[in-house]
Amino acid sequence: MLTKLKKISLSSPTALKFRNLASKSTSSPKENVDCLVIGAGVVGISIARALALKGREVLVVDSASTFGTSTSSRNSQVIHAGIYYPRSSLKAALCVEGRKLMYGYCSERGIPHERVGKLIVAAGEAGVSTLSNLMDRGVENGVEGLRMLDRCEAVEMEPELNCVKALLSPCSGIVDCHSLMLSLLGDAENHGATFSYNSTVIGGHVEGDSLNLQVIGSQELENWDGISVLNPEFVLVPNLVVNSAGLSAIALARRFDGLSSSVIPKPHFARGLYFTLSNTREPPFKHLIYPTPEDGGLGVHVTLDLDGQVKFGPNVEWISGVDDVSSFLDKYDYTVDASQAERFYPAIRKYYPNLKDGSLEPGYSGIRPKVTGPGQSAGDFVIQQGEESHGVPGLVNLFGIESPGLTSCMAIAEYVANRFSK
Ligand SMILES: Cc1cc2nc3c(=O)[nH]c(=O)nc-3n(C[C@H](O)[C@H](O)[C@H](O)COP(=O)(O)OP(=O)(O)OC[C@H]3O[C@@H](n4cnc5c(N)ncnc54)[C@H](O)[C@@H]3O)c2cc1C
Ligand SMILES: *[C@@H]1O[C@H](CO)[C@@H](O)[C@H](O)[C@H]1NC(C)=O
Repeated sequence: MLTKLKKISLSSPTALKFRNLASKSTSSPKENVDCLVIGAGVVGISIARALALKGREVLVVDSASTFGTSTSSRNSQVIHAGIYYPRSSLKAALCVEGRKLMYGYCSERGIPHERVGKLIVAAGEAGVSTLSNLMDRGVENGVEGLRMLDRCEAVEMEPELNCVKALLSPCSGIVDCHSLMLSLLGDAENHGATFSYNSTVIGGHVEGDSLNLQVIGSQELENWDGISVLNPEFVLVPNLVVNSAGLSAIALARRFDGLSSSVIPKPHFARGLYFTLSNTREPPFKHLIYPTPEDGGLGVHVTLDLDGQVKFGPNVEWISGVDDVSSFLDKYDYTVDASQAERFYPAIRKYYPNLKDGSLEPGYSGIRPKVTGPGQSAGDFVIQQGEESHGVPGLVNLFGIESPGLTSCMAIAEYVANRFSK
């Protein structure tokens, strides 16, 4: 009765075998901890830090061999202003707040970042009304300094740009996410938090007022024959559990026996590829350049790295998930299909007509953990805190933490830590 696993998709052979995990293991030692954060991505680390700063004892587990190897290493590293999101959404509030916290923190700690500014461009007349809607929305959300530029002004700022109008967002910027994570992690450790890698949470069950979590060595899971019964290395009994497992947060929540499946959204995944610009001595742009948004993403945009490299992306490729074990071990397909460059050229040339043939090289890819699918309007962050949202005290689920999750990480952390400051 430890885990019922009713929700496992029967079409996945590994998932079927994974049922064997369900057998109750009474032999595993139980350990009490105050707070358990599952996932050491930028969001999990931020939450661990905030809880530790509030004096709570924190253990962070991650299935990978170090922190931040998943989506937190596979994004645009843009500090978003907070323009795109509906007025009353968590995304709007946490992005605007998170941006301010992030700039403050990065300046204070000397974390590489730059307020480079961004232009959202309408390449044709059709995009102009979209731009003015975005401007209105941004102003409503409290984004400072937004200004509409006509063609002349925009081209004066960016001579390579083709557009009829552009929306300037001066407070958008870029950050070195790895340095940021390292610094946040250092703070957390200095306040007593412990990070444990190669440790995968494979499920849990509600017992009394708390959720018991089964943890196993990732190597053991990796080597698992898929048939034999896995014995958790230990069972953790925390007062507070933060499920910040990114792409696998939903799969994991489905393995919490006693958590109603009705509160768990259906997961969707959208891969985004990046191509880098080769053979350029000077970057063609000084600002981030974004087209008007598309279904599932913000459009193939220009991002600058702090080291001056230019990249284009990410596109949107809806993909199916993987079975739970593979998801916990981050075995998603991150291959960059070089032939996709053929689709990037025309998209980019709408606003950068001088892009030369053969100048795009495959870069990397990331996968967006989404709670809405193709054709549906973009979903909000889903942050379920405690009894009132799902009936389980001391459980926080974070679902759909796609962009602007990096920008929002410190605000998400405040939001959670304030609720559970004790
Ligand atoms: C293509 C792309 C571009 C983006 N661009 C931007 C941007 O420019 N600006 C911005 O603000 N945001 C951006 N984002 C969003 C941002 O990257 C994410 O919101 C953020 O990195 C999420 O962090 P996280 O900690 O929630 O998840 P992750 O970084 O995915 O961390 C989750 C962790 O959980 C671990 N884990 C998983 N399952 C288990 C388990 N069962 N047991 C133990 N550990 C487990 C994983 O190993 C992983 O380390 C982008 C996202 C994508 C995909
Ligand atoms: C994690 O596992 C890898 C092998 O997969 C190993 O090389 C590494 O030392 C382990 N790290 C820790 C912290 O145990």
